[in-house]
Amino acid sequence: MKSKVSCYYGPSPGHSSMATLRAGSVFLPRGAMAASRSIRCFSSESPSVIRVAAIAGSLRKASFNQGLVRAAIEVSKDIPGLEVEHVKIDRLPFVNTDLEADGRFPDAVEEFRAQILKADSILFASPEYNYSMSGVLKNAIDWASRSPNCWADKPAAIMSAGGMFGGGRSQYHLRQTGVFLDLHFINKPELFVKAFESPAKFDADGNLIHEDTRERVKSLLLALQTWTRRIQ
Ligand SMILES: Cc1cc2nc3c(=O)[nH]c(=O)nc-3n(C[C@H](O)[C@H](O)[C@H](O)COP(=O)(O)O)c2cc1C
Repeated sequence: MKSKVSCYYGPSPGHSSMATLRAGSVFLPRGAMAASRSIRCFSSESPSVIRVAAIAGSLRKASFNQGLVRAAIEVSKDIPGLEVEHVKIDRLPFVNTDLEADGRFPDAVEEFRAQILKADSILFASPEYNYSMSGVLKNAIDWASRSPNCWADKPAAIMSAGGMFGGGRSQYHLRQTGVFLDLHFINKPELFVKAFESPAKFDADGNLIHEDTRERVKSLLLALQTWTRRIQ
């Protein structure tokens, strides 16, 4: 698809010449374009489909958080212009910069990084481990953060299923990590699924069976779609 692109180099926002900016233009400090491969410019046309990379921070078979990702994929089929793909993290080795050789990462890491780079936005399903995100999720985030940072400027949303707070504390740590990575999280709606309280939310295989929660997954996806279009 052809699209018109316009970037702006000049004084900082607040400077009087900002008045000359067209709506939708992007302010870039001088030299920023050369310094970063992640900066996107204004496009006059929205892409037809937003591709969301969904990542679950749990590897167990009957994981509730993987169940949330499956539900998001199912629900997305009813949302025009949105595609959700489950990007798996179970083959990633532990982060070890000794594994980076001749400017290459291990094959599984290269593949993961490519999937993140091509995504328009990110959906995290983040279990809470000891008041934080899981180690496997942090490991995946760390691999894709190696230069050039694959997360930069990606719109993102978080959902979580877990104990009393529904995984909420993992979400706050994830948001904190996202500050450094230039991830742009939506604030609302929040989705914390209290997996161990009745009524049951998941079956024995970790499939989401709770209609109300499915609706909330849909609301989250719609908000992420809107936010992604705004950022683009
Ligand atoms: C190492 C570990 C630490 C955990 N820490 C917490 C915790 O701090 N708070 C909480 O609510 N649940 C905690 N849990 C419970 C998980 O949230 C729960 O097992 C959840 O189902 C994990 O997500 P999953 O179903 O996607 O695997 C912990 C589980 C594990 C394995």
